Amino acid sequence: MEIRKVISSRRSIHDFKAENVDESKLIDIFFAAAWAPTHRMKEPWNVKLYQDEGRKDYAELVLESYERAGFFASYNQEKKQKMCDGIRDFLLSIPHHALIYLERDQDKHKFEEDYAAVCAYIQNVQLLAWDEGIGVLWTTSPYLKDEKFIAQIGLDPSLHKPAAVLQMGYPNRIPSPKERTSMKNKLQIINEPFIHKKS
Ligand SMILES: Cc1cc2nc3c(=O)[nH]c(=O)nc-3n(C[C@H](O)[C@H](O)[C@H](O)COP(=O)(O)O)c2cc1C
Repeated sequence: MEIRKVISSRRSIHDFKAENVDESKLIDIFFAAAWAPTHRMKEPWNVKLYQDEGRKDYAELVLESYERAGFFASYNQEKKQKMCDGIRDFLLSIPHHALIYLERDQDKHKFEEDYAAVCAYIQNVQLLAWDEGIGVLWTTSPYLKDEKFIAQIGLDPSLHKPAAVLQMGYPNRIPSPKERTSMKNKLQIINEPFIHKKS
């Protein structure tokens, strides 16, 4: 696809087919996305890809995190069980969960730059995937900030920041576009001197 078409036709996908994407195809996408811009060549992106049986523990840890956050606190045992089963089934209906994380640079400015580079990497993944007919939902759910969850997936919350989980698979349904606002009031072109010095 032409790049403009990939950018404008890409949609966030919420509903996936129960079919894995070939691992080699996904690996190719995660490798190719690494051409994202990166200040100081830090290449701060890292990926943990949960799929097949690996999704089960991931889903359990997400549920435990929801529980710690008090998500089920106001429900009785039966309702809580139903909600947990629903969330688990939903998570297991998504073929691939790619958790993207970076190291926390102690310098705030460098950390912001690294996060920006990781977002560029994520958008590269989304666009490369879309070009192959693969759908992605970029998610930033609260459990990504839960220190216990971060430790349980084998990271150190004081050293690592999970940036997103990309839910991935072949789309079952492609939503209609959410139209974007015209840039006409957002783009300023400055092509004349603009500092008016007092005489
Ligand atoms: C940083 C970031 C976080 C997002 N987190 C979520 C999320 O947690 N859940 C969700 O449904 N969509 C999430 N999205 C996707 C947006 O909802 C989506 O891009 C927006 O609705 C426009 O739809 P489109 O991508 O199909 O054009 C996120 C997007 C970004 C950039």
